[in-house]
Amino acid sequence: MCGIVGYTGPREAYPIIIKGLQRLEYRGYDSTGVALLNHGLHVFKKKGKVAELAETLVGENLHAHIGIGHTRWATHGEPSDRNAHPHTSASGKLAMIHNGIIENYAQLKQELIKKGYTFKSDTDTEVLLNFIEDIRKNNQCNLEEALRIALKRVTGAYVILLIDEDDPETIIAARKGSPLVIGIGKGEHFLGSDASPMLEYTKEVVYVNDYELAIVKPDQLILKNLGNEKITPFVQKLDIELAAIEKGGYDHFMLKEINEQADTVFDCLRGRLDAEKGTITMAGVENNIEKLTKANRIIIIACGTSWHAGLVAEYIFEELCRTPVEVEYASEFRYRNPVVHPGDVIFAISQSGETADTLVAIEKAKQQGAFIFGVVNVVGSSIARTSHAGAYTHAGPEIGVASTKAFTAQLAVLTMVALKIAKQKGTIDEERYMHLLQELHDIPAKIAEVLKSSEKIKLLAEKYKDARDFLYLGRGYNFPVALEGALKLKEISYIHAEGYPAAEMKHGPIALVDESLPVVFVATKDKYHEKVVSNMQEIKARKGRVISVVTEGDDHSASLSESIMPVPAADEIVAPMLSVIPLQLLAYYIGVMKGYDVDKPRNLAKSVTVE
Ligand code: G6P
Repeated sequence: MCGIVGYTGPREAYPIIIKGLQRLEYRGYDSTGVALLNHGLHVFKKKGKVAELAETLVGENLHAHIGIGHTRWATHGEPSDRNAHPHTSASGKLAMIHNGIIENYAQLKQELIKKGYTFKSDTDTEVLLNFIEDIRKNNQCNLEEALRIALKRVTGAYVILLIDEDDPETIIAARKGSPLVIGIGKGEHFLGSDASPMLEYTKEVVYVNDYELAIVKPDQLILKNLGNEKITPFVQKLDIELAAIEKGGYDHFMLKEINEQADTVFDCLRGRLDAEKGTITMAGVENNIEKLTKANRIIIIACGTSWHAGLVAEYIFEELCRTPVEVEYASEFRYRNPVVHPGDVIFAISQSGETADTLVAIEKAKQQGAFIFGVVNVVGSSIARTSHAGAYTHAGPEIGVASTKAFTAQLAVLTMVALKIAKQKGTIDEERYMHLLQELHDIPAKIAEVLKSSEKIKLLAEKYKDARDFLYLGRGYNFPVALEGALKLKEISYIHAEGYPAAEMKHGPIALVDESLPVVFVATKDKYHEKVVSNMQEIKARKGRVISVVTEGDDHSASLSESIMPVPAADEIVAPMLSVIPLQLLAYYIGVMKGYDVDKPRNLAKSVTVE
């Protein structure tokens, strides 16, 4: 979390930094700050979003050719002006921004307090900065050396950018556990948490690795490890277009991304699925087919929405591949003493590819001999790079904090992987295999159909927006969809919502049901359908307000419901890619009607790079 930007070169730094920070606000947005070097160090920072800082700086002299900027998601210290980054050192000569957590900051702080240091903020960042300055002073070394010495004492995760009043062309950067991209221009360099701040200036980037230091000047980029050895930067070409990170006429990124899903799922299938020939081409699977088919067990590791995609995948893998599957929250898995054997296959699912818990959980499983298959959206991200093999979801940049198009693309990829494994193992018959390929092929067109109901869902949002709580229920493949629907509502409308397996609601949640409680059933036609209909009856008998996602033409379910959200008929294995969409739209419209900033919901961040 936290977004960082840096620039050094001939252009005006401030506009590049502010625009870059706005693109990175999905990473956190509780305070903002910029430090510029121009005949001295100038720091501007403030609680609140990037636009709020920019507004207060209108008319200021912001001329500079080097600067760093930060948009924060608070960890140590409440969101406030004084806790906002950049922080300045005791001498006032150094400024630093930081994304991550310095775990041993309390101990370092005590050491510094004993030496007479005082602190202007409650942050771990200011502690690290003064620690670096203290080393520089005591060792009579340069800043780079001081940083290297400091980082050897530091535990935790960080990306830091550091500037020094006495070296007004250089940004020093270091990374461990949080992402850092450096864009290479002509006589200029850009730094960012991802590539979005630099897209209009350069397509050539270097992804900095853990335990690397970058010394960045306008016409020079030096990468080193903590042992002071030079590393040759690996320059890669970006293939993201600027339009992909802009709203394109939509009010919010979330709405744009919901509406993109027919295309993003199509892009995900394109070049891979050939329903006529009956083939799925995925190099990551083919090159490792033996490991995947012989897996004793599949463990799926993820967080948030990606974890819900993992739950759907559990059902799919067990059904099609007959391999035992466990789905784990990365944050729990990493701190347990999990039993992992060589021969186990880990599927790590992550939109960002940077989620700290998922990353560490993978490393843990890797050390125990498991084979890691990444299902990741962001190309070149940490999880993509640390996996043994994988498949990208190709959904394009997802900027709305509440994940939408990443989920449907994850389901498309996981279904293809399962089908390939099942075919190779012989656990699926030819007819079902061909049928499911066709069903997958038809999904983008069906998503486009569902999206046409947007206006009707807006009316439902109006009808239910004042409810205090919601219950979401589903069975089988639709149970994780119910969880995802509830999560979407919580995230952006701040309405309490719970997802439950429809049958399990009798063991508790049914006590909540009265005439004011909307109960959303994910009730598309599948092998559990009759059972779900019985559950609907049970809610209706207790005067709950039944809203159902139903298969088009299912009059019986419709007759039991106060409101319906129809989706086209589809095989139950692919149906979640359809049934989730009305739930995304419902949450979106309720959030908007309540006047919330749905792209930047309170307290959340898109990429959770702290544990
Ligand atoms: C955060 C985001 C969620 C996301 C989760 C996992 O909580 O707000 O939208 O599902 O992280 O992120 P990942 O990038 O690993 O899929």
